[in-house]
Amino acid sequence: MKPTDTPPKTYRVKSFGCQMNVYDGERMGELLNEKGFSQAPDGEDADLVVLNTCHIREKAAEKIYSDIGRLTKGKTQKKAPMIAVAGCVAQAEGEEIMSRAPSVSMVVGPQAYHRLPDMLDKAVKGERATDTDMPAIAKFDSLPARKKRFPTAFLTVQEGCDKFCTYCVVPYTRGSEISRPFGDLVDEAMRIVDNGAREITLLGQNVNAWSGDDAKGRSIGLDGLIRELAKIPDLHRIRYTTSHPNDFTPGLVACHGEVEKLMPYLHLPVQSGNDRVLKAMNRQHTAESYLRLLEEVRAARPDIALSGDFIVGFPGETEAEFKDTLSLVDEVGYAQAYSFKYSPRPGTPAATMDNQIAKEVMDDRLQRLQERLNRNQKAFNASKAGQNCTVLVERKGKFENQWLGKSPWLQSVWFEGDVTIGDLVEVNLVEAGPNSLEGALREVAAI
Ligand code: 5AD
Ligand code: SF4
Repeated sequence: MKPTDTPPKTYRVKSFGCQMNVYDGERMGELLNEKGFSQAPDGEDADLVVLNTCHIREKAAEKIYSDIGRLTKGKTQKKAPMIAVAGCVAQAEGEEIMSRAPSVSMVVGPQAYHRLPDMLDKAVKGERATDTDMPAIAKFDSLPARKKRFPTAFLTVQEGCDKFCTYCVVPYTRGSEISRPFGDLVDEAMRIVDNGAREITLLGQNVNAWSGDDAKGRSIGLDGLIRELAKIPDLHRIRYTTSHPNDFTPGLVACHGEVEKLMPYLHLPVQSGNDRVLKAMNRQHTAESYLRLLEEVRAARPDIALSGDFIVGFPGETEAEFKDTLSLVDEVGYAQAYSFKYSPRPGTPAATMDNQIAKEVMDDRLQRLQERLNRNQKAFNASKAGQNCTVLVERKGKFENQWLGKSPWLQSVWFEGDVTIGDLVEVNLVEAGPNSLEGALREVAAI
């Protein structure tokens, strides 16, 4: 690769996959801003493109090569953007990317992106660089302070996973479970609230495994962290995602009943409603223990909106076993959910299991599952029609005077009125659709 005599000045970060990637993408942007770059305006080509990739399902890696092809097609090295591949595909297939895609200048894993500025200096000199080290959470100490202005913000509190579900790449790409220190999190939360955030979503691959020592040196879990963050006066809403049923403590259940700022929404993946499949997935819980846990949470917070993740067509899944998933869905009554066809991930135990399920069978099961989930979601939305609730205004709608925000149950609500982004408003939910609700403005809270 030749040195460049026109060093890049503008950038674009394209994040794929989970909310953690969105958070990482924002922080890479902040690093680049600090280095004197500016974000390329919408619709304009950027000098540097960071592809922040996801490896969890499907042929994500193949998608990266087609993205790279599109960015460089018909362009000389001088005209083509500089390309960095970040995220979980970078972690899992870094070397392969470097050899298959000569136009990629940098490959940087999710635990190493704080070193992006140094790698950029090298890339400008024509040196390609790969960094997929996994130092224990050093990156957060090297990132610039948060400056983002927006009413909702993500805050990564925990990374990695030790659960080793047999289908999942996360323990390999994100490494083992690490919790960020309590003091750092309180500082970062206060800064984002000072910058205008009214809602914070605490992120972690296994967020309820977070643990730390509070200011008095007492050992606390996610519930303790939530209670502490709830003391920040201008922070009005707290959410967290994603949890594992086995790390759900009685303290966290209690939090849902006691901490008003903790929103009545819980994303708790179950993956399957059948115990043999759950065992083969190494989920370490049963359908029954999952349902019991949800009962406890519902007892603490009766209006809680429940969400989950599902995989259909795990190797060996029979029709009867799949039907157990359908029954579980109706028993829970989900407000929202994510469902996927099983996708064999190289290096995971399930990828080499016998009885891989045919694509047509998976397609059919996914369709039937999604029908149920959509029916659940519609029923949940309809159950809120006529009620009053608060909405945090997030953005302008398509029409004059129209605004969009989220209800406490994470539903999209649109309404008309004289408000601004970041307001917490009281609306009456006048009509429920399958994916959003219409509200009528009652009052704007003085905050
Ligand atoms: N195939 C399909 N879905 C998967 N997920 C994780 N790994 C796979 C895979 N190999 C889903 C799970 C998880 C969500 C983030 O992605 O449902 O909870
Ligand atoms: Fe993957 Fe979640 Fe299982 Fe961890 S708990 S291995 S992140 S599916």
